[in-house]
This record gives sequence, C-alpha cells and structure tokens, in this order.
Amino acid sequence: MKAIQYSEHGPAEVMHCVDLPDPVAGPRQVLVKLEAASVTPFDWKLRAGYLKSHFTLPMPSVPGRDGGGTVTAVGEGTSEFGIGDRVAVMAGVFAQGGYAEMIAVDEKNAVKIPDNLSTVEAVALTNAGLSAWIAVRTAEVKSGDKVLVHAGAGAVGGLLVQLCHHLGARVTATCRSTNRDYVLGLGADQAIAYDQEDFSELLKEQDIVFDLMGGDIHDKSYKVLKKGGHLVWLVADPIRDRGAEFGVKVTRAMVTDDKSALQAMMELAGAGVIKPQVARTMPLFEAAEAHRLVEKGAISRGRLILVM
Ligand SMILES: NC(=O)c1ccc[n+]([C@@H]2O[C@H](COP(=O)([O-])OP(=O)(O)OC[C@H]3O[C@@H](n4cnc5c(N)ncnc54)[C@H](OP(=O)(O)O)[C@@H]3O)[C@@H](O)[C@H]2O)c1
Repeated sequence: MKAIQYSEHGPAEVMHCVDLPDPVAGPRQVLVKLEAASVTPFDWKLRAGYLKSHFTLPMPSVPGRDGGGTVTAVGEGTSEFGIGDRVAVMAGVFAQGGYAEMIAVDEKNAVKIPDNLSTVEAVALTNAGLSAWIAVRTAEVKSGDKVLVHAGAGAVGGLLVQLCHHLGARVTATCRSTNRDYVLGLGADQAIAYDQEDFSELLKEQDIVFDLMGGDIHDKSYKVLKKGGHLVWLVADPIRDRGAEFGVKVTRAMVTDDKSALQAMMELAGAGVIKPQVARTMPLFEAAEAHRLVEKGAISRGRLILVM
C-alpha cells in the first residue's frame, strides 16, 4: 500500500510517499481500506518534534490520528463489524497512522459511520469530535450556562460551539472578523473578532471558558469567568494555572481514544444535530503541503482532509 512516512523529526519535507506491506487484521481487529484521514495540529507538532518530551515515536512513523473507510477483513474474535461496513477509526500515537491506503485497528477503536454522512465528513468528526466531546464532558456544560469558546471557527472549536448550543448554553465564540457569520451559523449567540476586539474587555461572568489557544489568551480568560467558573483547556503547551487567584476551577480535557465519545458524536451527526465541518480536501500524496497549510494557520472553518 501507499503511505506517508517520516524517519526523523523536522519540516514538512521529511514526509515522503512510500510503499509499505499491506497491514493484516490481528485478533479483534478490523482491516480498513481508507478513503480519508484528517490533518490535525497535533500531526504537524509531532512531526516537527515539538512534542518529543511527551512522545518518543517509533521511527519510521506513519502520521495521522484517525481515518475512515470500508472494512475489508476482520480478525479472529471480531464481532462488531463485518466486511463492507463503513467505519471511522482512531489510530494510536505510537501505531500506524491514518495517512495510508489501509490500516488495521482494534475494533474498540472503530465506530460505524451513519448512512447520512460521507466518509470525509465522518473523518472531520473523528479526532476533532472526540476532542470536542471530551472537552464538553469535562466542563459539564448544562442548559443556561454562559460559555466562551475560543477559536470557534477551528475544527474543534466549531464542534464545541455546536455541542454547547445543542445543550442549551449561551455561547460566545472568538474568531477572525471574516468568520463571524460562520460561527453564528454554527449556533453561537455572539461572535467576538479577535483581530478587532479584545474578548476580555467585552465579557464577564462566564460559567465556562474553553481554551484552545493557550498563552496570552489563557491568561486573559481568567478575568471573564465568574467566581466558581470553570476553565477547560486543551492545548499542547503548558499553561500558568491561576485558578486559586481567581477562584475558578482549571481542568485539562484529557483527550484519549474514547470509543463512547466518538460514538456519541457520530450519533448526533447521524441525527442531524451536529454538522461536520470540512475546510478542504487534498490528495494523500500532498500531505506535506497539507501540513504546511495547517502549520501556518491557513486552514479555517473545519478540518483539512486527505483523501486516498
Ligand atoms: N490536547 C489535545 O488532545 C487536543 C485535541 C484537539 C485539539 N487540541 C488543540 O486545540 C487547538 C485547536 O485545534 P483545532 O484542531 O481546532 O485547530 P484548527 O482547526 O487549526 O483551528 C485553529 C483556529 O484557531 C483560531 N485562532 C487563531 N488565532 C486566534 C485567536 N487569537 N483567538 C481566537 N482564535 C484564534 C483560528 O480561527 P480563525 O480561522 O477564525 O482565524 C483557527 O480556526 C490546537 O492548538 C490543538 O493542538 C488539543
């Protein structure tokens, strides 16, 4: 099979399209002919070596935390899936990733794709959806909560806006000015343009802030929370926890390959409650260019998806 692989950390050019032996489904695994895989910020940060202190990758490495396609074989003891099923899969950080024509994954890391979603749409919901669901679960969002979602036009932020709106929260999202209408269309009640306005001057008494940015934005977020409020963060860089100083709870959303979370997102999308956001698609062999685009912040309004 064709796959994208790198043998050392570095710029996008370390990634090459290579021929690898086809994977085989082991016990309780499914073999999936992949049609799509998403490109996440984590993928390029990992490739560049910024996360080396957290993850020692086996080299060479095939990137990609998710994928979607059709089951072509099942391993011994596999009960949930059959040949021909369309599935979305979560790929472990240390295992073969989704930037490939085939993948073998444990059945506990796969979910069926609802009939009304394309495989590309399902992939836009996989790693991003998992992250958004776990963040919302961590924050315990409930009806009537005032919620601020940073980066509301991003892949995870856009799903957070939709989920919080669905749960009956009053949602404010930050985004660039040209994305205001987009985040309002996702269900935000208010959009704050980070290139024109300072959210920390406009908001107060928020119950929950989702921090997907870190740094200065994290620091300023304390000010807009009410006492007893909750700051939930999911960024790669360490944050300065000022919870005690401001009387707020600060929690990292621990994003793991949680099948129940992915299943929940697929069900909501299947029911039409959540709409997957696909920013654009590119062919698998253009993975290096896809990384460059994500790295420089040129992708907005959902996921960039590689198609095989
Ligand atoms: N810890 C984890 O497991 C985990 C899981 C998922 C995501 N994350 C992290 O969460 C972050 C977002 O992920 P993603 O996949 O949603 O990324 P993404 O799709 O690339 O979105 C990034 C968004 O950031 C927005 N942005 C840039 N500068 C901003 C600012 N000053 N204020 C508000 N928004 C700003 C951009 O908005 P515009 O398009 O409007 O300019 C863009 O849409 C990344 O840092 C990622 O690493 C962590």
